[in-house]
Amino acid sequence: MCGIVGYLGSGDAYPVLIEGLKQLEYRGYDSAGVALVGSDGRLNVYKEKGKVADLENYTADKDKSGHLGIAHTRWATHGEPCAKNAHPHVSSSGRFAMVHNGIIENYAVIRENLEKKGYEFKSSTDTEVLVQLIDYIASRDNADTVIALQSALREVVGAYAIALVDKEHPDCLYAARKSSPLVIGMKDTDFYLASDVNPIAAYTDKVVYLEDGEIAYMHYGDKLRIVNLSNAECCHEVMTVPKNLGKAGKDGFGHYMLKEIYEQPDCIRDCMRGRVNPEARTVTLSAVHDHRDRLLSADRFIIVACGTSWHAGLIGKQLFEDLCQIPTEVAYASEFRYCNPVIRSTDVVIAISQSGETADTLAAIELARSRGAFVYGICNAVGASIPRATDTGSYIHVGPEIGVASTKAFTGQVTVLAMIALDLAKEKHTIDDERYAAMIEELAVIPDKMKEVLKSDGKIASLSKIFTYARNFIYLGRGYSYPVALEGALKLKEISYIHAEGYPAAEMKHGPIALIDEEMPVVIIAPKNALYGKILSNVQEIKARKGRVIAIVTEGDDVISRIADTCMEIPRTMECFDPLLSTIPLQLLAYHIAVCKGKDVDRPRNLAKSVTVE
Ligand code: AGP
Ligand code: GLU
Repeated sequence: MCGIVGYLGSGDAYPVLIEGLKQLEYRGYDSAGVALVGSDGRLNVYKEKGKVADLENYTADKDKSGHLGIAHTRWATHGEPCAKNAHPHVSSSGRFAMVHNGIIENYAVIRENLEKKGYEFKSSTDTEVLVQLIDYIASRDNADTVIALQSALREVVGAYAIALVDKEHPDCLYAARKSSPLVIGMKDTDFYLASDVNPIAAYTDKVVYLEDGEIAYMHYGDKLRIVNLSNAECCHEVMTVPKNLGKAGKDGFGHYMLKEIYEQPDCIRDCMRGRVNPEARTVTLSAVHDHRDRLLSADRFIIVACGTSWHAGLIGKQLFEDLCQIPTEVAYASEFRYCNPVIRSTDVVIAISQSGETADTLAAIELARSRGAFVYGICNAVGASIPRATDTGSYIHVGPEIGVASTKAFTGQVTVLAMIALDLAKEKHTIDDERYAAMIEELAVIPDKMKEVLKSDGKIASLSKIFTYARNFIYLGRGYSYPVALEGALKLKEISYIHAEGYPAAEMKHGPIALIDEEMPVVIIAPKNALYGKILSNVQEIKARKGRVIAIVTEGDDVISRIADTCMEIPRTMECFDPLLSTIPLQLLAYHIAVCKGKDVDRPRNLAKSVTVE
């Protein structure tokens, strides 16, 4: 995934680059590196395995001068995480240094050709191949840097966002993108470059989003120039970044994840603000209003997403079918894009993504649009690639989510899906006035009920200590609680590295029940709803085999709470809103188990927050 930062201006590059990397660390933290160019063309490259803080320590006594520089925080795709494979990569001649986000798919062929020409490679990355190729073309054709870059990019297959410096031009910064994001900020004579707008927002609110196939040429004292791979000039609107962007702190919490879990009541209120009107008992989303006819005439909805966002999509399917009678399919974006799916122009594709940058989800959107479907995005990151690539959409407005394990974005996504479903159901007359009004009233009090759930944090923290022994967990749920089971299991896997499986409770007896013994903790999401009697039987089946049941039940439950080994209570709500409450104890359980096990909760191994490679 990787985060990229660049700076060219009148000030010192290093502090801008390091501060930028810290904000992009959610994109990867396998290694970090920086290249600084002095006005005399001196190139200093420093790289270190691990986090940005490790790089900072490493550079403490180094020469960090220079008004031009590029930097990178890596999530490795090709080549193990180590200093040698860290970016920036420098070409053999020492002339070019480059950072890259993405994958050069045909790197092996290019590397072989360059090796035959005498180029020596220091790393096992795909990235180094591209910087060597640029160097090779520049010297072979005696070409200007932009021309060499264009020729090289025409030869590579894959995805990239790159930033490049050339020792021979210490007053120029070059960048290019295809399928990986890049934003350029401008202030007076200074240029800022980054994978998302956050590192730039502290310096300027004037930005340009680079598009696929474009190269940006920044020359100190000149205007930004953007050309495509055929050297045709591209025009761009300069956008103004919203003022409320900025650094998110931990506000006294030990980890971002815990802070984000606790923020959910406020986030869900923000998400509903201006949309849900409890007095008038209405819900209105501007995107639904603006595209009413297109949405109402859809034969089918197809939800595409990955990970936690896909789990929210499973809840969306139930909401759209239950409330709106719209047949809805849910696909992993990574599968959808390659399975030649049937997509009709009468379909509406709903893409869900917290980051708005997930490569597979973006590709699924492109495919859907190329086949004439209308695409609705549900995102958190304002101005990211997905909101820009869709026909319309709704932001979830839950604020920056820094912890790699998604928490408040999930409940925000479910809230937006519920609001869309309610708004459409009303328009389609598939819901009667009474149910509509009652559901809106209930949605409006969900933040208060979330606060109630958070009060069980202490109990969950104590409980977590008991379960650090476990090497496996099973999570079970039915109906609206089944995606919650999947989400609970994913949270535990991600941050505590305990294997966990989410399963539809009744499917247990078709195989996984063989895993149950006195060692196996089974988390059962069993709120009081229409399926309560059914899930009660499933609890009995587990207990009969000596499984250790941790049940999430509705307050006042006196049946499952007696059979289960441990219970966590949530307030009573409507069945379709249960996930907004029952997810929270599972987030806390995963969090506390991971903390007890001494894991890096906010930056779990092998993961990154934004998955911009496929
Ligand atoms: C969630 O905890 C994960 N880290 C991950 O599954 C995530 O939900 C997935 O990568 C999708 O990301 P997106 O919502 O930004 O598209
Ligand atoms: N492929 C590059 C590497 O492994 C960049 C990875 C990425 O952007 O995720 O270093």
